[in-house]
Amino acid sequence: MDEIGTSIVILGGTGDLAKRKLIPALFNLACKGRLSDGVNIVGFGRRDYSDDRYREFLWDGAREVGELAIQEDEWKEFARRITYFKGDLEDPESYVTLCRRLETFEAATDDPGERLFYLSIAPRYFEPAIRNLGASRLAEGPKSLRKVVIEKPFGHDLASAQSLNQVVQEVFDESQVYRIDHYLGKEMVQNILVFRFANAIFEPIWNRNYIDNIQITVAESVAVGTRGGYYDSSGVVRDMVQNHLLQLLTLVAMEPPSAADSESLRNKKVEVLQAIRRLPAEEVVKNAVRGQYAGYLQETGVPENSITPTYAATRLYIDNWRWKGVPIYLRTGKAMAEKVSEIVIEFQQPPHSVFTLESPEANQPNLLGLCLQPDEGAHLRFQVKVPGMDSSSLQPRDMAFHYESAFKGQSIPEAYETLLEDALAGDASLFIRSDHIEEAWRIVDPLINAWGDESSGPPDVYKPGSWGPEAAKIMLEGDGRSWRRLCGMHDDE
Ligand code: BG6
Repeated sequence: MDEIGTSIVILGGTGDLAKRKLIPALFNLACKGRLSDGVNIVGFGRRDYSDDRYREFLWDGAREVGELAIQEDEWKEFARRITYFKGDLEDPESYVTLCRRLETFEAATDDPGERLFYLSIAPRYFEPAIRNLGASRLAEGPKSLRKVVIEKPFGHDLASAQSLNQVVQEVFDESQVYRIDHYLGKEMVQNILVFRFANAIFEPIWNRNYIDNIQITVAESVAVGTRGGYYDSSGVVRDMVQNHLLQLLTLVAMEPPSAADSESLRNKKVEVLQAIRRLPAEEVVKNAVRGQYAGYLQETGVPENSITPTYAATRLYIDNWRWKGVPIYLRTGKAMAEKVSEIVIEFQQPPHSVFTLESPEANQPNLLGLCLQPDEGAHLRFQVKVPGMDSSSLQPRDMAFHYESAFKGQSIPEAYETLLEDALAGDASLFIRSDHIEEAWRIVDPLINAWGDESSGPPDVYKPGSWGPEAAKIMLEGDGRSWRRLCGMHDDE
């Protein structure tokens, strides 16, 4: 435990994220003894709350999340660290008053006082909030003791992300900035690098000589729910592809870094993005499919003629020595058959067929599935002989590893726990650097532009509870391939 007092200021302290994710994550860290005693939390919001009322509001949220209800005593202890600050994100005076409050607190405890500002606010407030942090003395002080955590979405296209980066960099040094993608905090996502680089057997075959294609599926069974207004102005590419799917892709495809420090790691990730072939506008139609689930236009907050896609699938290529010619298929959508996130590596077929294999089942390639959620683990699929039959009767079977059974009784930390703990410790490995965010926009902007254009027509409509539009299946069939599933419930597509 360090001895320095730390103020975590949550801008957007009465928002859903603070209530459902951030406070429960900090509470869990405190219960596990992983939050320094010197940490205090200030919720910055517009509502007229007293400290006690704010704590009650958060307690309601914490109780809704999992098993916390049984820990009321711990909560009472933890809640003493929390105070409320009523302020207006766009009013510079609010920040000056907050600064005075933090200075008083820091003076009383007689230490330099670390400050971590968590921007859990609507994106339109990012710029004013950052400027105001700069204009008040809140961001002043030793660089290692001033941090800003910025939620997604970081920009809505390349130009807006560049301009936001500029504003951020006028106030903070890049080393003080923690851009969040909560997928990076997921246990199995962190495990991708361990899987690849702490084992010797996978890396020699992790390239175009052995791998036929890579598929990344992030399917959600929920529809847009109450977020129709936000979602319609965003769409699936900004909401999921630009961030979560491209993050997964960089981890699967990056070169081994020489060390696990944040800069070595992030350099390698950015190199992958730089090598992804850009899709010119006229190529989008051949390499990507978009869909909208039936019923989306009736969701609250969605205009009746919206062409916003809720599903996207795309084929990408990484033009480098390792991956030249290997297609990478990404797909994600709302209202799909099940909630499952997985990465499937499909290996090439054996070079020569020793056995007489007639049925398609007997002719399956090896597949490696990294199951990211909900059932975290990995599957390796290979061919086996059906007992008692001759060697033309082969069937695929899986060798499986699952966290839950392998580490019985050890709970998997929530992504936000990991990320908050890392940000407090000053480890930026699981956060996004400015150049990464800009490269990611360069990759998806052509899709957004092509699909935002009215002349491109409406997206394909798909049935809620299905695996998305037929066109996504056809795109792979055109390549002589099909979508693969190893994790989750294994229902038919
Ligand atoms: C968020 C998106 O970033 O990720 C949501 O804005 C999406 O639309 C969510 O539902 C998915 O996260 P998870 O952790 O449930 O897979």
